[in-house]
Amino acid sequence: MADHGGNEIENVYRDVLAAMPEALILADREGIIRIWNHGAESLFGFDATEAIGHSLDLIIPEAMRDAHWNGYRRAIAHGETRHKGGSMITRALSKSGERLYIDVSFAIVKNGAGEVIGSSAVARDATERYLKEKSRQQETVAQSVTQPVTQSAAKSATAPKKPLQSYSATGITVNFDPNLCYHSAVCLKTLPAVFDVHRRPWVLPGAASVEEVMATIEKCPSGALTYLREGVAEQKTTVEAVTGAAIQASRNGPLLLQGQFTLQDEGGTEIATPGRAALCRCGGTGNQPFCDNSHQRIGFKSQK
Ligand code: SF4
Ligand code: FES
Repeated sequence: MADHGGNEIENVYRDVLAAMPEALILADREGIIRIWNHGAESLFGFDATEAIGHSLDLIIPEAMRDAHWNGYRRAIAHGETRHKGGSMITRALSKSGERLYIDVSFAIVKNGAGEVIGSSAVARDATERYLKEKSRQQETVAQSVTQPVTQSAAKSATAPKKPLQSYSATGITVNFDPNLCYHSAVCLKTLPAVFDVHRRPWVLPGAASVEEVMATIEKCPSGALTYLREGVAEQKTTVEAVTGAAIQASRNGPLLLQGQFTLQDEGGTEIATPGRAALCRCGGTGNQPFCDNSHQRIGFKSQK
């Protein structure tokens, strides 16, 4: 009876997996696809015979493969994913070559003895939702770019401070202060697997090594990005650790402060912590005294 019940349950499982509209993919420890249901066939366009036995690279864009496999090996080794059951929107490849975005959640699969035997992914098409959101964001940016400087400044002078953001992965927490960022895009260009404004969350600290994330944050010129190491008492970044301060004028852009300084508002209240800050020198910012990238909008040209 027990066996019969077990077989019945297995059959029900098989039917559910076959019928579910979402794509279900099971890959072994090496990332070789072992299960590819009907939903996966519909979503990616590859039928099961084209997918099973092949690497997950089949559906991973080339530019994302290094970050993917770093995260995959880490998850297999630790027996858990950094998403902890949550989902994320990411790019994927389809057989037709059409641009595809999927909303996907991952889980580690273990056998009866508790050993990791691979990972599963459940995915659904998020292309339309993603592109709509992206176009809405682009419209918002376009509107702010076409606003006259004075209007922009007046508006943001009364705007409330934006809340700090925090993103954690094993070994590191990345903090982001949107009130300091001037959209230099250094982080986006240096480590796109971790910093990607077209994705939610836009910071995925686990998508690269802790060292790579730290090295990228060290390059953030505004001090908007900082990090906290897990279990490491000394939290100072390289520039925070130097003695003295330096001010450097960037070409056609802000004054960049680095090192030990105290930045106070007119009332003497400290408004930036030591480390880094980017101060406006074009006069166009809506976030005084910090640069907000208005120098680009108004075509500010610095004198040599
Ligand atoms: S200022 Fe820092 S956080 Fe903002 S885009 Fe540049 S590197 Fe990224
Ligand atoms: S220098 Fe960047 S807004 Fe003025």
